[in-house]
Amino acid sequence: MKNASSNQELKKLAGIHAADLVQDGMLIGIGTGSTVAFFIKELGRRIREGLHIRGGVPTSCGTRLLCIEEGIPVIDSMQVNRLDLAIDGADEIDPCLNAIKGGGAAHTIEKIVASMSDEFILVADESKLSPALLTKFPLPVEVIPPALSLVKKRIELLGGKPVLRSGVRKDGPVITENGNFVLDINFDTRPSDLECLDAELKKIPGLLETGLFSGIAKKALISSKDGVETRFPEK
Ligand code: A5P
Repeated sequence: MKNASSNQELKKLAGIHAADLVQDGMLIGIGTGSTVAFFIKELGRRIREGLHIRGGVPTSCGTRLLCIEEGIPVIDSMQVNRLDLAIDGADEIDPCLNAIKGGGAAHTIEKIVASMSDEFILVADESKLSPALLTKFPLPVEVIPPALSLVKKRIELLGGKPVLRSGVRKDGPVITENGNFVLDINFDTRPSDLECLDAELKKIPGLLETGLFSGIAKKALISSKDGVETRFPEK
């Protein structure tokens, strides 16, 4: 599972670099996670120094609270349908910049916010890079509670092994911002066609959204000990 406390220095480097992309007057989407937390802190610093943005749309309660703490003007996603830019982390990124997200259980709102943004940029340390998705991280899916049993069964029929995500320092399952469960799906044999898998998963009644972000990011800021590199999707 995700380790939010790993690679803090590299996450910080990437997050601070991403904050440079925000310009006066922008309406931005703000993702979730420990890398984005560094972005938010740097954005807050720039705002206190005079940067004026129209607002930031947070993708989770954690992000909303941090934005408020940092003095970033918060706008609800229900108030907008277009953003200039969205910055978000990822759990696994392939050379085409397809990504697995949802390690923080926020992928449904993250995908909504990413989809309304003119530009969606991933920000991550190099440990997130992977030659092929689902080799390092399971696929999270958000599930409406009454559908849990049905969704688990259907996922098994597709060859997946779903595990209900449990809370840390909270008994019982993780509950998303939308009041739902998260299943993390592992596969004994990695599915070769993830687009097809995604389409099949979305046909299951009660499965709200998957953590596969395919073809959404057109740019990624990847940090390593050599600095921050801007990557574009490989053809
Ligand atoms: C939240 O649901 C996820 O999609 C995060 O964006 C992802 O887990 C990256 O988080 P870290 O920056 O903490 O690794």
